[in-house]
Formats: sequence, structure tokens, C-alpha cells
Amino acid sequence: MYLNGQYVPYEEAKIPVEDRAFLFADGIYEVVRVYGGRPFDLEPHLRRLARSARELRLPEPDLEGLTRVTHELIRRNGVDEGTVYYQISRGVHAPRAHAFPGQPVEPTVLVLTHPLTPEAVAAGERRRQEGVTAITVPEQRWARCDIKSVSLLPNVLAKQQAAEQGAYEALFVRDGFVIEGSSSNVFAVIDGAIVTYPACNYILNGIARQRVIRDARSLGYTVLEQGIPLAALDRCQELFVTSTTSEVTPVVAVDGRPIGDGKVGPVVRALQQAYRAAAR
Ligand code: PDD
Repeated sequence: MYLNGQYVPYEEAKIPVEDRAFLFADGIYEVVRVYGGRPFDLEPHLRRLARSARELRLPEPDLEGLTRVTHELIRRNGVDEGTVYYQISRGVHAPRAHAFPGQPVEPTVLVLTHPLTPEAVAAGERRRQEGVTAITVPEQRWARCDIKSVSLLPNVLAKQQAAEQGAYEALFVRDGFVIEGSSSNVFAVIDGAIVTYPACNYILNGIARQRVIRDARSLGYTVLEQGIPLAALDRCQELFVTSTTSEVTPVVAVDGRPIGDGKVGPVVRALQQAYRAAAR
């Protein structure tokens, strides 16, 4: 893995216990998918990392350096199918204090690769073919979900609740609108139009989300960036989630009620095909 300017064996990497990511979740992250040894949409992911850094007043990350590190780690670790994880924290500051350190502190910068087993790849494929189920949960996060911060406790609890109920994803509901998943963006097909919550401070503007919106428009679909009313789930034709790791995954039931006819629909199939054509 890469840690603070050096390549080190994973087992030997050390981060001090008073790193602010550990004490305060004072840090940001990114996840990039690797297909056939190539990082997909690396540039927009790294641009978003830089934006997250600015929003938290972290030092500007060296994007050219991180691009080189990405390719080097994929090569060194022989990653074919997998992910790259980036995390930058405000670094070590002892003794513990909430406010930023008085002196500029070196951020902790790490990059890891995770290979995906053939079984994991096949499981994702199966979810995209057959569809998944979801539950709805009340929004309990902060008002800066546009920052890809490692402070993910409400997301973790929501996903765990979904898992315990046998569902794949938990969808956050804010003011009566389905706004995003615990680790994905959400789209509905309502009266033939594709509807997804606008990119604002209440959601993460997913890189997959942005790609799917572009693909949908070039395929001739109308895309409306507006809230999906919770009540509209009963009358939408299709529902799907997007993310770097799940691509375009159809949701065939929410809270135990089928979406549309309960089968994967044609809009999802067209968008999956477009996504796959770009990624592979
Ligand atoms: N999660 N919304 C949330 C809350 C997310 O955590 C993610 C991604 C997305 C989709 O973003 P993107 O299309 O850029 O992956 C939306 C990543 C994959 C994760 O936490 O592992």
C-alpha cells in the first residue's frame, strides 16, 4: 500500500493512534473501481477528492502524484478486478483537541487496493441481473453529505439495518423524499422520466450518478433532478441505485412492496449496457 509518500507492505503500515481520522473521523475518502487492470473514471474521483479536501480545509492533494500512485499500486499488486481506496486525514495531533492544530500538520495520505474475487464479481453481476431489495430509513445524517467524509456512522447503521432485514440497501428519506442510499444514489422511472434527487448538500454527487445521467440523456431519456416522493414508489415503473461498486443495480422491491411489476425493466437494462460499454 501507499502511505505518506512511501510504498510499504500492508502488514507493516502504521498510523499513530492519535491520528484525527481515528479520533474524530476528520478525513475524506474515495473509492475507484478497477476493470481489467484499469482504474475507471479516475480523474473525476480525484477531482472530487480535492473538492472534499477544500471543504474540510485540508491541504490540496497532489492529484498528479495520486494518479501515478494509483497506476503503480495496481501494477505492483497485480489488480485485475478490484477497487482502489484513498483516504486523507488531518493527521496526528496530540493531545486530543477538537479545533485544528495551531501548526500545519502533515495530513495522513493512504492508498490501498482491494482485489475482487471472481465470486464477488459474480455476485455483483447476479444482483444486476436479478435485482435487489431495499428498505427505507429516516435521514439521520448531517447537512454536508456532499463531502465524501469518513464520518459514516449513520450510513453504517442504515446498511446494517438493511442487512439484518435481508435487504441490499437502505434508502434515506428526508422530508418525504427518497434522496439516496446508504452507499449509493437512487433513481426512479416515473411516467417514463428518470427522476433523481438534485446534487446539493444533502447527497453525495456520485461519479456513477453523473455518468448515468449523461448516458440517460444521450439515450434520449428525460432526466429530472428532483425529489422522488416516498408515495411515488407505489406507482413508479422502475427503481435503481448507482455507485462505483454496484454500477447500475435494479431495486425490485422496497419495504416488502414490489416496484412496478417486480421485474427488472428496460430503462435499467439500457443504462447497464451503456455503463458496461464505457467500463469494459
Ligand atoms: N460509496 N452516496 C453515498 C452515501 C455513497 O457512499 C456513495 C458511494 C455514493 C455513490 O457515489 P459514487 O458513484 O461516486 O461511487 C452515493 C462508496 C462506493 C463507498 O462508500 O464504498
